[in-house]
Amino acid sequence: MSTTLQVPATRPPAWPWTRLARARPSDGRAAAEAAFRRAWPAYASTAPLDRLRATEFARLDAQGHVYLDYTGGALYAESQLHEHLAWLAGGVWGNPHSHNLTSLAMTERVESARAAVLRHFNASPDEYVAIFTPNASGALRLVGESYPFRPGGRLLLTFDNHNSVNGLREFARAKGAEVTYVPVVPPELRAGSAALLRELGRCEPGAPQLLAYPAQSNFTGVQHPLAWIPLAQDAGWQVLLDAAAFVPTNRLDLGVWHPDFVDISFYKMFGYPTGIGCLLARRAALETLRRPWYAGGTIAFSSVVGDGHYLSPGAAGFEDGTVNYLGLPAVEAGLRRIEAIGIETIHTRVMCLTGWLIEQLLGLRHANGRPLIRLYGPAGIERRGATVQVNFFDRDGMLIDCTEVERQANARRISLRAGCHCNPGAREVALGFTRADLAECFARKDELTHAQFLAAIEGKTTGALRASLGAPSNFADVYACVDFARGFLDRKPAR
Ligand SMILES: Cc1ncc(COP(=O)(O)O)c(C=O)c1O
Repeated sequence: MSTTLQVPATRPPAWPWTRLARARPSDGRAAAEAAFRRAWPAYASTAPLDRLRATEFARLDAQGHVYLDYTGGALYAESQLHEHLAWLAGGVWGNPHSHNLTSLAMTERVESARAAVLRHFNASPDEYVAIFTPNASGALRLVGESYPFRPGGRLLLTFDNHNSVNGLREFARAKGAEVTYVPVVPPELRAGSAALLRELGRCEPGAPQLLAYPAQSNFTGVQHPLAWIPLAQDAGWQVLLDAAAFVPTNRLDLGVWHPDFVDISFYKMFGYPTGIGCLLARRAALETLRRPWYAGGTIAFSSVVGDGHYLSPGAAGFEDGTVNYLGLPAVEAGLRRIEAIGIETIHTRVMCLTGWLIEQLLGLRHANGRPLIRLYGPAGIERRGATVQVNFFDRDGMLIDCTEVERQANARRISLRAGCHCNPGAREVALGFTRADLAECFARKDELTHAQFLAAIEGKTTGALRASLGAPSNFADVYACVDFARGFLDRKPAR
């Protein structure tokens, strides 16, 4: 007997959001969209995504949401859920770490997902392995804790790394390696290639040296050159490319670029499932890692009596315990979806919208001529992604607290993100914090309680406001964002 499972109806009562959704676009919006389409003609080629927005993501408009936090987490298409649920309901799936019937069937699906990940990134299975992790941070930790840092070795980072990459410095320092940051420089907040080259040239032949940088900053949207990968490798470095914010809307071709390690989170690519990430590692680079422990699933053999263990070769030696095996077919389905749409189509769409959004925000001026918005990152769409980081300023030029702007956006059902987005270096350069500003707080850190520490750094934890776009984004979303921002023009300062 076969059972048909249905996704439970989780939608809240339709009123009043359906009224919002059914409201015809204002004349203002219609005219703005016509002008946008003339200025960004490539957008027309992404029309299939409008159809998906109306079907797969209908909940956005039905509930009146303007979702602009795709770098935080992408949204899943409804059919991803249906497909996954049907697969779950239609089979009997055991833990893959065994050789019984249901376990073998599940192992096949796990390996199929692994192969799909490699295919998606055009990574040759002869060169790369895909290791499933709980998220991008889990992938980064695997590298950090196993990397053979030692005195004489180095870890080179860019200022705009996510905290999950910054955290690698704790492993490096604990093993006596030198940690160096390449600064990002205003106004675009890019890291200069000259500064990077200087640091790459300063190395001890034969010592383990790791360059870790984001393909796309989750703070500024800056895309650092992938050409740094061969440059660094030729200079004797290994490269860890943090691709978590890059791959949702950009092609990463590992047949062209050959970073030693790449970390990603799948929910950032297609929203569902959460809780699964991946470390793509070159086989040769994986060999250089030394795991500090072992766990169930990672070993070919372990003995209590003999007091020893033998690590499994390849990916298995790095997948601690049981992977999220029931979620992996959903990863494969998510990748299929991106491939069916085409990552280039997604890229074109979000970049047209980003270009318009930046232009419009930068054009907003108070009556006295002062700009409303300060942008942190490139003002054009060259070498950047669909992440726009700003702060709002009142007519006297005073900063409006980004959390207050976020709160007011919430009232309009617009999801922006306020804060530092786990990217303290980019925030500190953008907002002009100096080492001296922070040194005093950190010098006393161990004497202070959590509350006292927070009080001591009061004022230095402000951040900025991020709008980020994804495959379902459309003109109405960015228009709503600009319209919301326009509402701050010439408002009486709150002091
Ligand atoms: C650039 C970048 N790297 C790493 C991460 C960490 O990802 P996760 O929280 O999924 O581990 C994020 C998350 O926002 C990110 O944006």
